[in-house]
Amino acid sequence: MAVARFIQISPFKHLLTHSRFLLTLRSDQGKYHSLILFRLSSASDTLWDNASSLNPVGKLEKLEMAANRQIYVMESTCPHLGADMSHADIEEYEDTTVAVCPWHRYDFDLRTGQSETGLRTCTYSVEVKEDPDGVEKVYIETPAGGNNWRLVELRPVSEEFADPPPASSQSISQINPVTTSSEVTEPVVPETNPPKTLMQWAVLILGTSNPALKVSRTRHAVQLFRTGKLDSIGHKSSAAPRPPDVPPRDDSYLRNTVNPGKVKGRKSLAVMLHALANIEQWAWDIMARFGPSHPDLPPAFFSDFTKMALDESKHFSLLTSRLSATSPSTPYGTMPVHASLWESATITAHSLRARLAIIHLVHEARGLDVNPATIERFRRAGDAASVAVLETIHADEVTHVTAGHRWFTWLCEREPGGGLDPIETFRTEVRKGWRGNVKGPFNVEDREKAGLTREFYEDLAGEMGDEEMVLRKGAFRMDGLSDSLPVGVTPQVAVEYEKKM
Ligand code: FES
Repeated sequence: MAVARFIQISPFKHLLTHSRFLLTLRSDQGKYHSLILFRLSSASDTLWDNASSLNPVGKLEKLEMAANRQIYVMESTCPHLGADMSHADIEEYEDTTVAVCPWHRYDFDLRTGQSETGLRTCTYSVEVKEDPDGVEKVYIETPAGGNNWRLVELRPVSEEFADPPPASSQSISQINPVTTSSEVTEPVVPETNPPKTLMQWAVLILGTSNPALKVSRTRHAVQLFRTGKLDSIGHKSSAAPRPPDVPPRDDSYLRNTVNPGKVKGRKSLAVMLHALANIEQWAWDIMARFGPSHPDLPPAFFSDFTKMALDESKHFSLLTSRLSATSPSTPYGTMPVHASLWESATITAHSLRARLAIIHLVHEARGLDVNPATIERFRRAGDAASVAVLETIHADEVTHVTAGHRWFTWLCEREPGGGLDPIETFRTEVRKGWRGNVKGPFNVEDREKAGLTREFYEDLAGEMGDEEMVLRKGAFRMDGLSDSLPVGVTPQVAVEYEKKM
């Protein structure tokens, strides 16, 4: 019988903030595995801290709390049709405790994984061991197959599954309530033809020009998806709606779109916050654009990218909130921004593999390189609240690059004839769909956390020529702008900065 292997995931104390965590593991072979951890114990941070480990009674209390921890780990996707189990209901049933899938209510025993329906999900053993310094660490059994599994993400599942925080701590959401300068006049759920599938929500959100409404709709749609309140994902349907070539923007934002070179030189902190808020818009597009052309994409793909969409809307809210706190006279939409990332999105609109490579593994990975210096600038300026926001965003962005790597690798594996080598395929995609060097210096450590080892990106340059670039971005247009251009004139990304008062 094979001996189970375990990996350490966290000090026990760190699991007291939330009752659910999503875990992503990656093996040496680049295989991914997602698990969900449920902690049923009522132990809280405060109780834990009050049980002093310096006296024998307190130490005993802590060990009892650890022993009664009731930590369970199972597959994060339901074996029936692949729902994300992070929003499963936990129910007591006779002498067992079950996780009830939010989509079709199948229940799975937290210990054995058995369901009354006859299906079974994999569960994983958990151990809590005390290290030589007296710190309780949590270990979980690793999946079968694959060598040297490592933890690449341990993410609490949303605030609604948080234990009450200790009185002293202030969460990011408390620091930054959602605010934007835009007025929202439309309802979150349209009164006529409300979306019924995830694809319909994606297209509605992409077509929503008001950023505050976009944030509200994103939250609502992701909640519906996670709790099984949508009819389906809808990507296999021949009636799946098409996304806009470029999502529309409110007129005032549109007119502030400038040549990227013009934004480069402007270095004030307010401009930086504004520019960072502007670039957070990728996840709905990849789902809506490529879902229908890839009916074999599993629900886990949509779980990953809806999570990313939620992160993007959270980042937008956090950044615009910091912008209005630090520079009230320049709310979001009043400063110059550029649309060069949408240019890359258009250039890669023909291929999911190209999109994952260029947007997630080049552009987003570049964010990992430059974020630390940006954070340092805000730290030097004494803006601790913005530092906290940017650190949160950076940690999320590591997981976005991880998702890019995961699904790029998945696509490569599925190629007929035994699959493609992910590293060589990535380098080929970059040569075809990028211009100039893939620039360093690189944040090797965080890239590696996300699965991007040096072989992926070192000594790599794009070879896309001008002609091919123009050809590929033929569909690119900033909505509204093209209407004002003379017939026959190709719309350009670069337009003059024109501040609207
Ligand atoms: S019961 Fe989980 S997807 Fe159907």
